[in-house]
Amino acid sequence: MKLFDVYPLFDIVPASAINCYITDYNGVEYLDLYGGHAVISVGHSHPDYVKKITEQLNRIGFYSNSVQNPMQEELAFKLGELSGYQDYALFLCNSGAEANENALKLASFHTGKARIIYFEKSFHGRTSAAVAVTDNPKIISPLNDTVRRTLLPLNDVSALESALQIGDVAAVIVEGIQGIGGCRVPEPAFLKAAEQLCEKYEAVLILDEIQSGYGRSGKFFAHQYADIRPDIISVAKGMGNGFPIGGILINPKFKPWFGMLGTTFGGNYLACAAGIAVLDIMKTEKLVDNALAVGNYLLSKVAGIPQIKEIRGKGLMIGLEFDFPIATIRKQLLYDEKIFTGVTGTNTIRILPPLTLTKPQVDHFVEALVRVLNKS
Ligand SMILES: Cc1ncc(COP(=O)(O)O)c(C=O)c1O
Repeated sequence: MKLFDVYPLFDIVPASAINCYITDYNGVEYLDLYGGHAVISVGHSHPDYVKKITEQLNRIGFYSNSVQNPMQEELAFKLGELSGYQDYALFLCNSGAEANENALKLASFHTGKARIIYFEKSFHGRTSAAVAVTDNPKIISPLNDTVRRTLLPLNDVSALESALQIGDVAAVIVEGIQGIGGCRVPEPAFLKAAEQLCEKYEAVLILDEIQSGYGRSGKFFAHQYADIRPDIISVAKGMGNGFPIGGILINPKFKPWFGMLGTTFGGNYLACAAGIAVLDIMKTEKLVDNALAVGNYLLSKVAGIPQIKEIRGKGLMIGLEFDFPIATIRKQLLYDEKIFTGVTGTNTIRILPPLTLTKPQVDHFVEALVRVLNKS
């Protein structure tokens, strides 16, 4: 059997990884400024993380959500504590798309309504409702196309109010910082207005923090820069440092009933072990603060590079937009300088490293970038 060919691949086979570095089968070491697509939070193969999952696997790897699982409660407690959402409830699932799918479903159950408002350049995943509210018609199948939805420009308060006034909106979904949209930060005033308008028109505000959450922005959640408290927050990616886990943080006004949401694998022991290890490491190593400090350092270092047209983002979620396509630069960074970076669109490099990144590693990247730019 062959693989279903949906991914364009770099010609690199990672063999091992430690903290911010990946080593391939030829023994070549790469600096990882891509974090496996914003997934690696506490660094590759962190010893506490490896120990926690290994020990758990030696005890029990899986049962089901029909028995008590104190690890889920420990995870919820620690997440509440670190994020400042102690009063919210946690529902666990396995991926980002699934987190958003459940968030949208919960909003629809709660309001009895079905329309979703979403924004230009958004990405929310590839399951049915999540992909329907993603601004990329190419990945929306006719089946997904049946979801009732309204696409609006980001940061346009009056367009949002006009759409909400109609009265059929279950939820407004917005990323804390747009990822695939190119590290675009919603204006704090817009998020504040969205919070107030959702309350006024009885719609649910969903903050997709799948990419921008878990410390990546330099706060636990990017929306905390806008000082809002959304009704539902979706998380995944950094939550498990590579172990598949996702979840939604749910305001106490939502009342659950048995069977309302559910999943076979969500919240399994191994995922909880990964999730707890991540939170413990983030706390002891102060990784949210590190993301802010090293991110700000990176922003200051790239500010003087003349070829960069626009710099966007916060913490260690940074978009560098150029006037020209960057495919060649990205390849040169990878193959000549041995540095992994992300991309968005044709002209923007995305920096999404582990939150353990250091200032000397930033210096190394900036020197390499300048070298590559001077070649082209
Ligand atoms: C903002 C955002 N939402 C949702 C998703 C979907 O997550 P997953 O690929 O885990 O389903 C992603 C993935 O890139 C994302 O960046």
